[in-house]
Amino acid sequence: MNLIVEYKEYIMLKSRKLTTLNLCVLLMLGVSIGGCSAPESSVEEFRADFISNLGNDPIFSWKFSGNQEGFTQTGYQIIVSDDRAKLNDNPGNIWDSGKQKGSSSLQVTYQGSELQTGTAYYAKVRSWSGQDVPSEWSEALRFVVPLDYPGEWKADWLTYDYEPESALPLFRKPFKVGITSDIESARLYIAAPGYYEAYLNGERVGENVLDPGQTNYEDYTFYTAYEIDPKDLSGENVLAVTLGNGWYNQNVVWGPEMIYGQPVFICQLVIHKKDGSKEIIASDESWMWTSGPITYSNVYGGEHYDARLEVENWNRPGEVSEEWKVAVLPEVHPTQLYEQFAEPIQIMDEVDVKEIIDRGDGTYIFDFGQNMAGWMKLKIVGERGEEITVRCTEELDGQGNIDPRTTGVAATRVIQTQKYICKGEGEEEWEPRFTYFGFRFAEVSGLKQPPAKDFLTGMVLYSSVPDVGSFQCSEENINRLHELSRWTIIGNIHSIPTDCPHREKCGWTGDAHAMIQAMIYNYDSQRFFSKYMFDMRSSGREEKEELYFGESFYDRSITIKPAGIPTMIVPGKRTSGIATPDWGTAIVQIPWYLYLYYGDRVLLEDFYPDMKTWVEYIHAKCEDGIVTHGLGDWCPPGGNVNIDCPVPVSSTAYHILDVGIMKQVSALLGNTEDYTSYSAMLEQLKRDFNRHFFDRMDFTYGSQTANAMALDIGIVPEDYREKVAGSIVRNMNEEFDGFINTGIFGLARIFKVLSENGYEEEVFRLLTKTGENSFAFMWDHYDATTLWEILPCSDTYDEGVYVDPSHSHPMQAGFDAWFYSGIAGINPVAAEPGFQQIEFKPYLTKYLGSASGSYISKSGTITSKWERIDGKLTWNISIPANTKGVVHVPTYRSEASIQLNGNLWDVLEEKDGFSLIGEFGPGEYLVEVF
Ligand code: BGC
Repeated sequence: MNLIVEYKEYIMLKSRKLTTLNLCVLLMLGVSIGGCSAPESSVEEFRADFISNLGNDPIFSWKFSGNQEGFTQTGYQIIVSDDRAKLNDNPGNIWDSGKQKGSSSLQVTYQGSELQTGTAYYAKVRSWSGQDVPSEWSEALRFVVPLDYPGEWKADWLTYDYEPESALPLFRKPFKVGITSDIESARLYIAAPGYYEAYLNGERVGENVLDPGQTNYEDYTFYTAYEIDPKDLSGENVLAVTLGNGWYNQNVVWGPEMIYGQPVFICQLVIHKKDGSKEIIASDESWMWTSGPITYSNVYGGEHYDARLEVENWNRPGEVSEEWKVAVLPEVHPTQLYEQFAEPIQIMDEVDVKEIIDRGDGTYIFDFGQNMAGWMKLKIVGERGEEITVRCTEELDGQGNIDPRTTGVAATRVIQTQKYICKGEGEEEWEPRFTYFGFRFAEVSGLKQPPAKDFLTGMVLYSSVPDVGSFQCSEENINRLHELSRWTIIGNIHSIPTDCPHREKCGWTGDAHAMIQAMIYNYDSQRFFSKYMFDMRSSGREEKEELYFGESFYDRSITIKPAGIPTMIVPGKRTSGIATPDWGTAIVQIPWYLYLYYGDRVLLEDFYPDMKTWVEYIHAKCEDGIVTHGLGDWCPPGGNVNIDCPVPVSSTAYHILDVGIMKQVSALLGNTEDYTSYSAMLEQLKRDFNRHFFDRMDFTYGSQTANAMALDIGIVPEDYREKVAGSIVRNMNEEFDGFINTGIFGLARIFKVLSENGYEEEVFRLLTKTGENSFAFMWDHYDATTLWEILPCSDTYDEGVYVDPSHSHPMQAGFDAWFYSGIAGINPVAAEPGFQQIEFKPYLTKYLGSASGSYISKSGTITSKWERIDGKLTWNISIPANTKGVVHVPTYRSEASIQLNGNLWDVLEEKDGFSLIGEFGPGEYLVEVF
């Protein structure tokens, strides 16, 4: 998707050059340099969010259309009604916020009396601009308050006569409702922790797959709510449900103790009548079940489907056989339900096969040309009983066979497989439902005829987070790295941020914080990562015996994990121990980034106590100001045996990062006591860090990652910053063939710290280097289309420094955030989070020919596009309505002159190679540097 908006014609300034003073006045008046009349605001994307783990009150946010010249909100009013018609006679009969002062359009929490769960309400917002002119009311927004469990649930949990090896069940319930024209609205609520598919009269309800998202089922599972069109309820109806095992009944990999219980579900179709009454079709013992055609299903191993076992009419009205049995009430089921508020997993893309290799022995290899996460849709005209096996992997071995090593066969003991047995009735189409794979190649066996080109289609699935970022530049290697990052990220967002889509599929906390900023710039991650925070809280809640990692991954013991401390992996029964300082820092970093990038104060406030518990737990373990345990800078190019940065350096640096965040958060939440103590703690920790690790003779903390972390986290004394950055370069040149030797901690930071401290040219060289020890080696030599767990940047990779690294590990993608923030120069500002203020500051302008970035923030769409031709830099910026941008122009050569919208422009301040030219209101700007 190309998000770069078309640039409007620039509104030229009058001939007089604006001084800083009159610029400020214009901003204060709420008009941009481009326009002088009081602008009409037009609210768009008014929405009500629910964080159902926190309760049933809506949280309202909105944006303004485009980048109306100079538009700044000074106040707003929200009204809520239980009747759409009543909303026209404003104010709302349920809540009227009254006119509130404020420029923020993010997260206004509902303050009215308690809303009825399961009930629809309507809301509108209007805003005031600088000259106190109210806008039109927005369109009415309909929202339905989540259902309380068990209070509002009239249904029973159901299961079937489960046998571990038996086929998955089908459930059905015929029903009739009165006259459909009497129906106001209808809504299906369904929860099935091992995944489900629901059907109404033979039609799939909704488009979610692998639903609901994974949680700690001992604590809660999510239910999903679907609007049903009343017209679909006329006559005879059948509501039908099929179940998967999902993570709820997964015992094939990581041991039998991974099971929570046998497949269960609960559902109710709530029909709201126009006369205010309700009718509920609920799961109960009137439902019947029978065995279905899915004979095997496991999230790691795959799925087998015998089309001969399909049951006629199972999900639609009509005659069914007598083999149906009464549904069973389960002994075990989740005890709490919340409405799923994060984006559900859906099929987001399709990939056609690129090449089919006939192996001559009845087997075929399909190459999709792209490593991806999902499954394959199969299309065939086959004979009854024809059994087709499709096994998929990321690579082929030297003999052209599928090679399951990188997809984790050594750990999982399973090869990702989908099996289909034809019923032999014309064209058959099938795709698995309750599993997914990480793959590029598939081996097909059992076919009676050579396969057609469209026999298999790669179906790409991931949490349906909106794509909000676009970046490209004139350097193909950088674009390629960006593409690899994006494919790796979407390969690993399946309701949790996973480490890889095959071997583990686990929500490792360290991987999550390593990639979050890169994901934020590319995909709307607010709900996705909020949900993950509740996973973290839920998995860490209890005090219990857990594995403890000491000075390295190999130094392990068993100890008691205190309550409130997260585990290494969340959620799920596979926890892999107490979070180490360098993994568990996710509990502090993630709420902070959600605040910084989305202005999410609700989550930050709620998690402040959890963040505090973590920081104090780690601080209590400090020895002379140093945190000694952790896993270290994971997976540098040579594998973990080559970690250059000692664990105490990286673990202490993360602790300092955490304490620094706590200092800022305590200040903004007004907790002065904590602010004072975190401020002192931070200074002391920095002193201790420098005392222990800083070599003032050689200006280094000892390794590329150590230096990058110390610079990025702000530990390096100001006067030494450039020299420490120089040490990174020296180390690269002297020891690593001019290349990086960083794991995930360093790689996410190295471009940023080098460019910020005078080494842009080095960054350009690093990113565009080819041959041995280069990023380009990954695709030139290994044909990589995603980022591997250990980046294959040189031939030494083949020497087996690590056992079978996965080929899709987003923890390596952290650097991609810098393409937006560094190269395109689009940055959030903590003082006005959620991009209410934007800092524009692009790097590499001397080295790249052009770059452009676009980001759909919660405050509107921001673009930055620059180009350098014949020594002249042309830079187009778009600042959305109700935001402002602080513009730093690269001082791109001495004696340069800067023009803004065609007028010579004064520089306010020159610093670190940039000229600050001012703070500007919404609008389109053209900056030229001659
Ligand atoms: C996972 C990683 C994870 C690490 C920590 C690996 O097996 O794939 O991404 O963070 O273990 O131990």
